[in-house]
Amino acid sequence: MKTSSLRFSSLRNIILASAMSVLGAAAWAHGDVTPQAVDTKTLPQLGSKWLPSNPYSSGPAFNEALRIGSSAYNQNCARCHGLEAISGGIAPDLRKLDADCTGMADAQKKSACFAEMDEFYVATVRRGRTRDGRVYMPPFEATLSQEAIWAIRTYLETRREK
Ligand code: HEC
Repeated sequence: MKTSSLRFSSLRNIILASAMSVLGAAAWAHGDVTPQAVDTKTLPQLGSKWLPSNPYSSGPAFNEALRIGSSAYNQNCARCHGLEAISGGIAPDLRKLDADCTGMADAQKKSACFAEMDEFYVATVRRGRTRDGRVYMPPFEATLSQEAIWAIRTYLETRREK
């Protein structure tokens, strides 16, 4: 009797401890200081050299990049840029990021415009934004891999205002 209640209580402690670590992880994900690392091993790996434009925009990796990117966006960007990239006003509305390009009639000019935005996007996310010594946006280079940053871009492409 005694042993079984002991066993029960240690089992309960294990359950409690794991419930708490799940809760802890959830609190962490919504925390407002620490960026979240993102598991990107199911995506084609890109190496250490930064690509000039989004390799996942089209082609077979698109769906997986979208899946990873939407969750990575929610964990790392949504607290400032808003859920589903709909800004509440604290930070720019990222649905409008490519607004200058989307209306272009000339296909070649349009894709050159998107490529330029890719460069601007990646530079901003890697380095963040600091003006007059104030951090407006933290740098993500140390936390997010190149794969994660392009996966987020893939998600944002699906959120473009039409
Ligand atoms: C702490 C809040 C915060 C977080 C977190 C954050 N950003 Fe930002 N971001 C900003 C602010 C504020 C600006 C505008 C900075 C400025 O005025 O110079 C900005 C600017 C940008 C821009 C340039 C937009 C433009 O129109 O100039 C991009 C792109 C961007 N963020 C992407 C991201 C992505 C992707 C993430 C997540 C990986 C992210 N941001 C996380 C606050 C944040």
